[in-house]
Amino acid sequence: MKLSIIGHGAVGSHLATLFANAGHDVAVGVRETTDLSSTYQIITIGEAIAHSNLVILAIPYGAVEAFAQQFGASLEGKILVDATNPLQADYSPLLIGEGVSAAQIIAGLLPNTKIVKAFNTVFADVMAKDKLVRGSHVLTNFIASDHKDASARVAELSLSGGFGVIETGPLALAKHMEALTHLNIAIAFGTGAGTDAGFIYVQNKAA
Ligand SMILES: NC(=O)c1ccc[n+]([C@@H]2O[C@H](COP(=O)([O-])OP(=O)(O)OC[C@H]3O[C@@H](n4cnc5c(N)ncnc54)[C@H](OP(=O)(O)O)[C@@H]3O)[C@@H](O)[C@H]2O)c1
Repeated sequence: MKLSIIGHGAVGSHLATLFANAGHDVAVGVRETTDLSSTYQIITIGEAIAHSNLVILAIPYGAVEAFAQQFGASLEGKILVDATNPLQADYSPLLIGEGVSAAQIIAGLLPNTKIVKAFNTVFADVMAKDKLVRGSHVLTNFIASDHKDASARVAELSLSGGFGVIETGPLALAKHMEALTHLNIAIAFGTGAGTDAGFIYVQNKAA
């Protein structure tokens, strides 16, 4: 699968490595193309968006509005996977409004793009093949979208990279996924247990 990742920080670099190693054609878009990688391309943001129809957004939430203004037209008709979390500088929750999520705000900024919330509840440190596996289970990537086809593609991609997957339902559920991240951060930093940790959702499907 061809895919694009915007941002080459902790999340962008881990996901790019994971998915390139899984055999995908990965292009990472950055503001300054000085980084090097042998397993995936690092190009400008505009070039990366043009590379595929599935774009993972891995930049700070505070940069999203300017990103949408600059690149919104080139994202029309594509899938944009929102991996962001609304956080303050000290990683505490950024209040963005009652009952609303970053993902829904992004959907409002990009009405002609299929927004999928995913990857935001997984620490970057564990977005690696050996870290996703925990005994007989794998860490869960929760997915939410109003577009079933887009959700299914992100689920397929996630499984190929070694994540467990739960397609939760509509994008309105992204607010709960963002709250899960706040809990994840509070446990990791509040207890000092660290970020080598994550959520595993176990489901017994009714016959
Ligand atoms: N770290 C985690 O464990 C984790 C897990 C899940 C989700 N997230 C979320 O994923 C997002 C990225 O997190 P991260 O930890 O990867 O952050 P990070 O390590 O700080 O990397 C951020 C990346 O975004 C780029 N960036 C910053 N401002 C930008 C702008 N205005 N336009 C375009 N690119 C910009 C940076 O590029 P420059 O080098 O040019 O500044 C850098 O490549 C955040 O929203 C975060 O909440 C983080």
